[in-house]
Amino acid sequence: MTQAGTGFAARRIERLRASLAERGLHALLITDIANIRWATGFTGSHAYALVSADDAWLAVDSRYSVQAAAECPGLPINHLTSSAGENLIELLTASMSGELAIESDTMTVAAFADYESRLAGRITLRPESGLIRTLRLIKDADEIEHLRHACRIVDEVFASVCDRLAPGISERDLMLELEWQIRKDHDAEVAFPSIAVSGPRSAMPHGQPSARVIERGDLVTLDFGARWNGYCSDITRTVVIGPPSAMQQTVYAVVQAAQRAAVDAMKPGLLGKDVDALARGRIAEAGYGERFGHGLGHSVGLEVHDGPGMSPSSDLVLKPGMVLTVEPGIYIPEWGGIRIEDDVLVTDDGHQVLTDAERDLIAL
Ligand code: GLY
Ligand code: MN
Ligand code: MN
Repeated sequence: MTQAGTGFAARRIERLRASLAERGLHALLITDIANIRWATGFTGSHAYALVSADDAWLAVDSRYSVQAAAECPGLPINHLTSSAGENLIELLTASMSGELAIESDTMTVAAFADYESRLAGRITLRPESGLIRTLRLIKDADEIEHLRHACRIVDEVFASVCDRLAPGISERDLMLELEWQIRKDHDAEVAFPSIAVSGPRSAMPHGQPSARVIERGDLVTLDFGARWNGYCSDITRTVVIGPPSAMQQTVYAVVQAAQRAAVDAMKPGLLGKDVDALARGRIAEAGYGERFGHGLGHSVGLEVHDGPGMSPSSDLVLKPGMVLTVEPGIYIPEWGGIRIEDDVLVTDDGHQVLTDAERDLIAL
């Protein structure tokens, strides 16, 4: 059997081999770049990997030859020389015959048709959904450490940005301040385009920062994340500029109670839809059911939306090692919106909240 990397890559490739065997599969061609990073440690933007019961390799073009060798010790690296993919086909046919699983969630129909015609008569493709994504749901100790650090960064950035948040700053400048601090002060990457919306614009759950200047009385929602060693945090806090109105306090209290009810309940064995119902029920009881239209949360990891999460239709069974966001919100057109989002690790006997920024209503 070919040695499959060292350290975490070797452990993950063994997990993948066990999963292939369970599904009656012999070999998988990995084309999804986040899945390649998970399985091999390669951090570039383009590669292919083959994992079978008795073989494993990575294939990269010349841009990544040196990097792949450094990042994937112990894993055989093949070098791609043609952009049309001929030598990938040669590598595959030299490595195996019979059935080859491919990642149907992310491979395009055009790429599938191309592989199918080039491999005809030698290798049969078998589309498989969610194979590595399912494994990625359960984080190992290395991944949890990276996620913890990514969460510490956003906690610190939130506290620091609150010190500078005052009437007169635009949403766009607030976003730049957040992202500058993530990059400059914490040596991390931005996990996704940051959301900074204020006043009536905070009624848009995924509104993009605009030139709007923040005023006294505004709600301001910040939804942002840091990426540390590839792993994303994702936090949301809503603050108010100046003393909060009675309605701002009431709606905030409903969202906070809903979020707390869901987080407090999280433990192995619960279904995603059960946890979602705890938050959604609180919001509906308070009369705002129509104003919470999105799911409760999602898995977070190498990608900010790292796999299934918790929603009214979610049959995801919570298991130790999963890291999920919990992010209920209430959005009222022309008034504004309030959302609170934390990243929560499911543990053997319950959960641990990884993000720890102030959750009570902050009036600045
Ligand atoms: N920031 C994206 C999300 O919360 O899902
Ligand atoms: Mn978010
Ligand atoms: Mn989120």
